[in-house]
Amino acid sequence: MTNLSHFAEKPTILVIDDTDDNLTFLSNLLNTNYKVTIANSGEIALQIIRDNPLPDLILLDTFMPEMDGYEVCRRLKSDSQTRKIPIIFLTSTSKIDDEIYGLSIGAADYIVSPISPAILLSRVKVHIRVKEIQDSLRNQRAWFHSIIESAPDAMLVTDDKGEIVLCNSRAAVIFGYGSSELYFKNISDLVYESAGIRKDGTEFPAEVSFNDLPNLNDSGVCSCVLVRDITERTRVENEIREAKELAETANKMKSDFLANMSHELRTPLNAIIGYSEILQEDAEEIGQYEFVADLKKIHSSGKHLLTLINDILDLSKIEAGKMDLNLDDFDLKHMIEDVETIIHPLMGKNNNQFVIEKKDLFFKTMHADVTKLKQSIFNLLSNAAKFTNEGLITLTVRNYITDDDDERIAFSVSDTGIGLTEEQIGKLFVDFSQADSSTTRKYGGTGLGLVISRRFCRMMGGDITVCSKINEGSTFTIDLPVAVKLSDENTMT
Ligand SMILES: Nc1ncnc2c1ncn2[C@@H]1O[C@H](COP(=O)(O)OP(=O)(O)OP(=O)(O)O)[C@@H](O)[C@H]1O
Ligand SMILES: [Mg+2]
Repeated sequence: MTNLSHFAEKPTILVIDDTDDNLTFLSNLLNTNYKVTIANSGEIALQIIRDNPLPDLILLDTFMPEMDGYEVCRRLKSDSQTRKIPIIFLTSTSKIDDEIYGLSIGAADYIVSPISPAILLSRVKVHIRVKEIQDSLRNQRAWFHSIIESAPDAMLVTDDKGEIVLCNSRAAVIFGYGSSELYFKNISDLVYESAGIRKDGTEFPAEVSFNDLPNLNDSGVCSCVLVRDITERTRVENEIREAKELAETANKMKSDFLANMSHELRTPLNAIIGYSEILQEDAEEIGQYEFVADLKKIHSSGKHLLTLINDILDLSKIEAGKMDLNLDDFDLKHMIEDVETIIHPLMGKNNNQFVIEKKDLFFKTMHADVTKLKQSIFNLLSNAAKFTNEGLITLTVRNYITDDDDERIAFSVSDTGIGLTEEQIGKLFVDFSQADSSTTRKYGGTGLGLVISRRFCRMMGGDITVCSKINEGSTFTIDLPVAVKLSDENTMT
């Protein structure tokens, strides 16, 4: 807030009189409460005013040789810099016409000799106070003006008839008017529902808010209308929406294409796998052992390709929202045994030791999509087996109940393998992404296992989390409800 009493020091008074006795008398009278400067001619007074901070009040003798008081007053009042200084004329004549003339050229007051000290002091006090209030009002107006000018939106104040009585310069810019042209236009000519209307008649999208204001003169309701030009924002929003729609269409086309292609590829591939198996048996039977090794390679490459195609098919089905859950009750122990049987040969490959720990397994059955759960656990275990050499791999199965009485089950796969850096962890679960480019060369794989597994788990109301330290090992945890419920989210990715 501005400070109403802005005189930090004593108010300053300039006394102008050609008689030294008068100057001494007035200085002595005013010195206690004011800072007094004296001048014994009009020219010297004007010089002092030019060279120093403006006085708060001037006491001015009317009759002086060369330049009289009236001339000094006229000059000060015709200059915008000095116009606001209150002037009190001091005179020895009591002619009413002189007094009227003095007031007509801008003096604040007119005091006739003999001067009563008490009256002079009280009039000086009143005029200093009036000046103080005027200065303060001027400061407050400038302060208020700078506030509305700093608004990034158009700000328009209307009277009870909707006519604009105040606005900021942003309003003129937004509506395309000259700086004072908006005054007394009606707000209904400028805004219409959620559009602004420019001077040239063109419209622009706008956010408009009307706020009632207390009316200073008690004549109806005033409004403060804020108008934000949202042309640019609307354009960007439209572009984003169009880009999103385009991307979604392209993504759907990609998923459909992949789903169809994967399907088409699997049929001949299954034939290649099947026939290479038959040929292997035939070659063994007729003793053509030199072909067996090559046929085995065809068979295992075909199998590898089939896994890849199945992964891609899974992913594209998930993305196209066509992946369904087949929920069923199953025995946890049997499911874990099945996983162990499938994973067993993989564990031996890098001389890893494999342990299964069942902790507080108080739920014997689970209700979920057993195939997808097995595939997810298998993915974690095959990763652990792939990225660990002569280490320990542990599958821990554990039940727990959350604070919300949610019955959950966690399958954690820990290994003592190569581990991951923070940066690598950030890139996990991204389609076709592997920890670094050397991974494919060294370990094979496509970087789809985790993505698919996480999406399966999320469909079942769970998730996969990871914690890992480079060169020390990793723990991947699948967390699921014991009884998965079918909901809209199940089919979402
Ligand atoms: N247990 C682990 N230890 C170290 N790195 C791992 C582990 N599991 C996954 N990763 C890193 O995460 C990457 C992605 O794993 P993901 O299972 O998705 O793909 P992949 O095993 O490379 O290929 P795919 O599973 O599709 O055959 C891996 O390439 C590897 O860099
Ligand atoms: Mg994998």
